[in-house]
Amino acid sequence: MAMGLRLGVCLGLVLGQVVGAAEKTRPLFPYTKPTLIAHRGASAYAPEHTLPAYQLALEQGADFVEPDLQITRDGVLVCLHDLTLERTTDVEEKFPNRSREVKGKKVWPVVDFTLKEIKTLDAGSWKGPKYAGTRVPTFQEMIDLVRGKAGIIPETKSLETYAAQGFDMGKLMMDLLKRNGLDQPGADSKTPVIVQSFSLESLKKLKGEQSCKLPLVFLFGRPEGLDTTAGLKKLQETVDGIAPNKAVVLANPKIIQMAKDLGMSVTVWTCKEGQTGKFPTVREEMRHLLEAGVDAIFTDNPDQFPKR
Ligand code: G3P
Ligand code: CA
Repeated sequence: MAMGLRLGVCLGLVLGQVVGAAEKTRPLFPYTKPTLIAHRGASAYAPEHTLPAYQLALEQGADFVEPDLQITRDGVLVCLHDLTLERTTDVEEKFPNRSREVKGKKVWPVVDFTLKEIKTLDAGSWKGPKYAGTRVPTFQEMIDLVRGKAGIIPETKSLETYAAQGFDMGKLMMDLLKRNGLDQPGADSKTPVIVQSFSLESLKKLKGEQSCKLPLVFLFGRPEGLDTTAGLKKLQETVDGIAPNKAVVLANPKIIQMAKDLGMSVTVWTCKEGQTGKFPTVREEMRHLLEAGVDAIFTDNPDQFPKR
């Protein structure tokens, strides 16, 4: 081989390796940089899923803010993690006679209450007197606060339960996003929207019945066959990225590269101070995960996300 040709081939191989390595470490769609997702807002410091928690998340530099979604009796999407109201509000005091008994325990399901009733509840005092009187926000109120300042990554919750009550959460969510002009990818460069769910079926339904074109990520707690190329390829028919519990990637970091080799992004949940296992701090834990190739992290402590 002529000297010039040989040099060219060698250079090409080296460049190819450098470019290949860069592609493997670069955050993947739907992300453009190592991404900070405020889990339920800045929920380590303010009552989860309240406007003060979302506002603090913005002040702490969140790239995305997470609302978990539930549905009121009158069909309004509200931001709340639990299917029921008693953990994070004073519903037990305000509506003592409106509970149901589930497995021997009294619960106050969101879907049993109208938005007007839910708006009378105190969703802040449990976190501290400073937050007394804070209300459960609607998804619309959350969008109004976050729009233009960060992305939004709604999680559809308990879809089967709501379907049994006659509600299609996917449709309600897409309709609301549409009314806000946020239902298409790239609709608002300052407020990208990604949809997350533990229900693969619901994500399939979103793509099918709702013609959802927004990026989708699939949440899971245990690998159950998804930590194989075949498992990931199957998922890729529906979603753009995987979102395993951080324990999954810490136990088997190879899943990160397996997903990225297929062009799938990797999001992990949930990093919070005080629950960091072998890592001394949440910042150290997040630094480790990002160095391992994770694209995005849900955290209760947005202010501890490593500098980018
Ligand atoms: O959505 C990511 C993470 O929030 C999943 O867990 O239970 O906090 O909704 P959870
Ligand atoms: Ca969530």
